[in-house]
Amino acid sequence: MGLRLERLVYESTATGTTESIGNLAVILAESQRNNDRDGLTGALAAHRDRYIQVVEGPAQALDALLRRLESDPRHRDVTLLDRAPISERLFSRWSMANARITPVHGAALDSLVDDNDRTPREVIGILLDAVRKLDAAPPQARRFS
Ligand SMILES: Cc1cc2nc3c(=O)[nH]c(=O)nc-3n(C[C@H](O)[C@H](O)[C@H](O)COP(=O)(O)O)c2cc1C
Repeated sequence: MGLRLERLVYESTATGTTESIGNLAVILAESQRNNDRDGLTGALAAHRDRYIQVVEGPAQALDALLRRLESDPRHRDVTLLDRAPISERLFSRWSMANARITPVHGAALDSLVDDNDRTPREVIGILLDAVRKLDAAPPQARRFS
């Protein structure tokens, strides 16, 4: 029996600082380990004091992740922007990618967040673009990311 795949995107407010490479590296490492186990894929962006994350995979695994996320003291106000069934993954190559936000991506995210009328599809598009740009960068440029 095939597993029903869904994709969700949420934003939250960091309680520490999203500027801290250390914070993000720890979260990404935990996420990659767990998501490999749970069949989840996606991308995580840190922008200003917000985390924005897209995660896709089996519905049950997403439910379990949401429960863990809601009780994680490293962020608060976890706000689901969208959750919907999908026929295929967008982030299949990444158990949890670091969506590094460039100034261009940042400006787009700002306008989406400030207008308070963020289209989940646009948010997902920005993260996918950030991940693809990083993935296409030569190894030299990626080494310290
Ligand atoms: C912004 C943010 C994103 C996270 N993303 C994931 C994730 O994709 N997968 C995951 O398993 N845990 C993620 N976590 C960590 C979970 O909240 C939780 O700490 C972890 O899953 C517990 O793992 P453990 O049972 O191995 O200790 C994230 C935490 C934060 C703050």
